[in-house]
Amino acid sequence: MIAQADSQSTPSSFTVKILRQDGPGQPSYWEPHTLQYEPEMNIISVLQKIAASGRSDNGKKVAPVNWDCNCLEEVCGACTMNINGRVRQACSALIDNLLKDSPDHVIQLRPMSKFPVIRDLMVDRSRLFRGLTKVKAWVPVDGYYDLGPGPRQSRSEQEAAYPLSECMSCGCCVEACPQYNKVELIQHNGESDEDFEKRKQEIFDKNFVGPHAISQVVLFNSNPTGKMNAPERLNALTEEGGIQLCGNAQNCVAVCPKEIPLTTSIAKAGRATTFNQLKQWFDR
Ligand code: SF4
Ligand code: SF4
Ligand code: FES
Repeated sequence: MIAQADSQSTPSSFTVKILRQDGPGQPSYWEPHTLQYEPEMNIISVLQKIAASGRSDNGKKVAPVNWDCNCLEEVCGACTMNINGRVRQACSALIDNLLKDSPDHVIQLRPMSKFPVIRDLMVDRSRLFRGLTKVKAWVPVDGYYDLGPGPRQSRSEQEAAYPLSECMSCGCCVEACPQYNKVELIQHNGESDEDFEKRKQEIFDKNFVGPHAISQVVLFNSNPTGKMNAPERLNALTEEGGIQLCGNAQNCVAVCPKEIPLTTSIAKAGRATTFNQLKQWFDR
């Protein structure tokens, strides 16, 4: 039985169950850690306490749990994981709130399921960034000298672009997307690192690029300078693994922590790719 602290709703202790994995391709296993309750903890501070204790609930010495984090203020996206079945950032997941929704005072942590596990809660998100490379999610510069002021953007254009620019490449949207399936590759015996990387990128490019990348196409194609590369980005979206794979399930928009209007972006990109294809066909 869990002892209660002063407040009826606050336990004196709680359990964090972590789905651990010792390395890529290894079997996973649950490991429970019971901690004393303290106010204002978040998942990262709890993981730090678990690392400092170095023992699991049965007193066994265990290796520190691995996880990723950086900004600690929901800006970098590195700490994304599944917390009580919901994909979100560990740094902004407050224990007080999680316990309110967990009558048994148990919090479950799992790594994201769409990326290969490196170790424990740390995953390899390189496919997420490959998607951004595929669609050229940047504005190319033609030199590092002073180019003077850029072209002006109207207030309404800025207001439409700003929310899209808030994407932190966290991966929540692809975790929820039924069309984005896990791709986990193993380096063959004798395959060089370079060849493995090339094979990986080719396979990533054939699989669904993801809603985050589609939305970045809309962002960069709306930029006065970025517009110059709009056809290249739209062509990338119509290749294998492109926007045609989106089934419009709308799971992505529901989980985006930055509330990016992903389905609006997908609809805009869909119209733009159709128009781009027709234009290229008539221009032949
Ligand atoms: S679109 Fe939203 S959920 Fe997807 S990577 Fe960007 S911030 Fe994360
Ligand atoms: S709307 Fe498209 S991108 Fe978003 S979750 Fe559904 S299939 Fe995935
Ligand atoms: S550590 Fe950057 S979003 Fe959590």
